[in-house]
Amino acid sequence: SRSVGLIGWRGMVGSVLMQRFVDEGDFAHFNPVFFSTSAAGKPAPEFQGATPETAELQDAYDIETLAKLPIIVTMQGGDYTKEVYPKLREAGWNGIWIDAASSLRMSESSIIVLDPINRDVIDAGLAAGVNEFVGGNCTVSCMLMGLGGLFKNDLVEWGTAMTYQAASGGGAQHMRELLNQFGALHGTVADELADPASAILEIDRKVLAAQRGELDASQFGVPLAGSLIPWIDADLGNGTAKEEWKGGVETNKILGRGDNLAPGVERRGGAIPFESLCVRVGALRSHSQALTLKLREDLSVDEIEKIIAEGSDWAKVVPNEKEATMEHLTPVAATGELTIPVGRIRKLEMGPEYISAFTIGDQLLWGAAEPLRRMLLITLD
Ligand code: HSE
Repeated sequence: SRSVGLIGWRGMVGSVLMQRFVDEGDFAHFNPVFFSTSAAGKPAPEFQGATPETAELQDAYDIETLAKLPIIVTMQGGDYTKEVYPKLREAGWNGIWIDAASSLRMSESSIIVLDPINRDVIDAGLAAGVNEFVGGNCTVSCMLMGLGGLFKNDLVEWGTAMTYQAASGGGAQHMRELLNQFGALHGTVADELADPASAILEIDRKVLAAQRGELDASQFGVPLAGSLIPWIDADLGNGTAKEEWKGGVETNKILGRGDNLAPGVERRGGAIPFESLCVRVGALRSHSQALTLKLREDLSVDEIEKIIAEGSDWAKVVPNEKEATMEHLTPVAATGELTIPVGRIRKLEMGPEYISAFTIGDQLLWGAAEPLRRMLLITLD
């Protein structure tokens, strides 16, 4: 059984990954070495079925210790990757690096992993000696897990995604802030709400005053509860948010199209124009997106649904009807599930090749932990 270094296992993505290892019995296939950036020397954690190689937490900044491992999986974040990864390679380390952070995604030495969609790209890279594997942006991975069938069959001429992204994409503190905001807003009008005769416009006025006043919004910068924020990640200075840029470049790189392909990965075609407008909403941990796609062919809705359903074992078509949509196509329905619901599929008035679709994915499962978990298993195979 091989040793695998685990860094950032305590954080939000890391905790979800550890739970997936436990649920699937994955710890039977490798011996974890737990690292810490702050508590080296303290006892290693206990996870059901895990046989840690060392009883103590190792120092995540100790290049020599890291370099002894054949495989390292990190969920520690981009700053850690930027600091440690180059040093490790400079020290001659040849092992496999599996990373949740975005820092290395567009590097020409990396592959963005989403094996149900791009196993061929991963295998070509492995055969060519690629040893840098990065999980994709959560919105991109969830979109491709839902609509991958259309992309794999080269049916998409171009697409747009209008996103509705959950608080968890910002991090654990952002989730807490959103819930605190909901609570605080309720608190300002609890008395009026308890009185059915109170005036709704007075309630509305008080809530707005709180949103514009004392509400703590230190994580998001502006209130999210009862509002939304149509900008996610950095301002690239050209009218585009970094999250929107990722949507296009990462989708194409995953599919083996566009630029920045790793050695051994043959280009599967030109880049598919894919544009986004990314919006933060008050959902907790599932990202939703409304898509408009121009297909290369005039296919019937039945054919389209079949291609989507066969695109991956996890994509599930939700009939485009009100009841099914309300029951199965919401963040509440999708959270905690590996299934990716895809609904609202219909032809648009713009022409027979234009369709709409709506899809949702748990931002921490397919959006973060699951592609890394599966890449680790591919590596150990
Ligand atoms: N950038 C994403 C978001 C999360 O803020 O929702 C990580 O991919």
